[in-house]
Amino acid sequence: MRKVLLSEDEIPKQWYNILPDLPEPLPPPINPVTREPVKPEELMALFPRECIMQEVSQERWINIPEEVRETYMLWRPTPLYRAINLERALKTPARIYYKYEGVSPPGSHKPNTAVAQAYYAMKEGIKRLTTETGAGQWGSALALGCMLFGMKATVYMVKVSYNQKPYRRILMELWGADVYPSPSANTEYGRRILKDDPDNPGSLGIAISEAIEDAITHEDAKYSLGSVLNFVLLHQTVVGLEAKKQMEVFDDYPDIIVGCIGGGSSFSGLFWPFYYDKVSGRAPKDIKFLAVEPTACPSITKGFYTYDHGDTARLTPLIKMYTLGHTFIPPPIHAGGLRYHGKAPTLCLLNKKGIVKTVAYNQVEVFKAAHLFAKTEGILPAPEPSHAIKAVIDEALRCKETGEDKTILFLLCGHGHFDMQAFSDYLSGKLLPYEYPEEKVKEAMQELTKLYPWLKIER
Ligand SMILES: Cc1ncc(COP(=O)(O)O)c(C=O)c1O
Repeated sequence: MRKVLLSEDEIPKQWYNILPDLPEPLPPPINPVTREPVKPEELMALFPRECIMQEVSQERWINIPEEVRETYMLWRPTPLYRAINLERALKTPARIYYKYEGVSPPGSHKPNTAVAQAYYAMKEGIKRLTTETGAGQWGSALALGCMLFGMKATVYMVKVSYNQKPYRRILMELWGADVYPSPSANTEYGRRILKDDPDNPGSLGIAISEAIEDAITHEDAKYSLGSVLNFVLLHQTVVGLEAKKQMEVFDDYPDIIVGCIGGGSSFSGLFWPFYYDKVSGRAPKDIKFLAVEPTACPSITKGFYTYDHGDTARLTPLIKMYTLGHTFIPPPIHAGGLRYHGKAPTLCLLNKKGIVKTVAYNQVEVFKAAHLFAKTEGILPAPEPSHAIKAVIDEALRCKETGEDKTILFLLCGHGHFDMQAFSDYLSGKLLPYEYPEEKVKEAMQELTKLYPWLKIER
């Protein structure tokens, strides 16, 4: 058997929320001035109310509204494949499976939360959602979500991608979104940056600041985020819940679960339901959870575990996470979705506790892995999940050395059809193996402690 498809009625009816099952309570976001935990009501100016309720909910299972489930039917359930050709090419005794989210209209997992967020906003009478996007995956997902629920999307797209990668911008525009290159003249913060530095290439941190400013200065608008927050991650658990059923059809269960991490939503969506099996004593095996990040943006492998802002203008509360510092300007690597300075607080806590392990790879080895995958399995992966593919290949080769027939499951969270420039640069040998320098992280932490001398900074 090469793949398992489920029927529409097998789309989960509830999302899984990890909060009640964490090894210890999640450190809350705090106000940088009072140092007090931020109250849910304070976040309601920014996000739809229902999203905030989910953010702090201790309910393990959250019902998926029927309208959202019906919208999921446009592309869900997604297929789960066994990568038999890749296994053969590697001559590994390991069995490799992948859950493929590239079949959604924008080509990634991102609409699993975009349609839910747009639905809740529409129900609350909100007319417009603002957001940021790197290379355009998240922006295009939100543009789709808003279009399906009759709302407007305003997307601040990191300027370097806006100029270099026009195709996702065009897709967003076709779906009715307004797209601005960030930093833009559309916000006070953007204008301030442009005045000092007209050629500023932008960053996700800056684009988040612009999108938040736009939302809080307009009555009819709220802000939408594509990763990091608990409610976003729990919306993604449809991925892992479906994958569990599909693995049952294969009569197999993973020893290792692998995913790339930008903010951590796709990987969490896959592994949380299996984590639930583990903590509730249902898992037949002791599963290894393996996250993969780029050496050019090594938030967990080189960053520090502390409270930091989620954006560059320091508009967000302080969030406890592994961070490279909110002033981080990413090197120009091709995995646009993996260039965020922080990671999801739940994922960071699980890393800190040793329950999730994280490894980093440079983009040259990552694209080589993507190429092997495309040559064996046919699907051209996006640069982001190609990080997971590299880690899967390494794990499978380790199995070859030890003779272990482990089961490896990974998330192929998007296709690479909009990333042809990246693959062209790879083919012509132009890619560089960037490594983000340790000194820069230390400098950013010094800046952070200048701002907040009371912060505890740990690894
Ligand atoms: C295809 C794809 N994969 C992964 C990511 C990383 O985000 P996350 O870790 O939240 O899944 C992105 C973000 O834009 C993306 O577009």
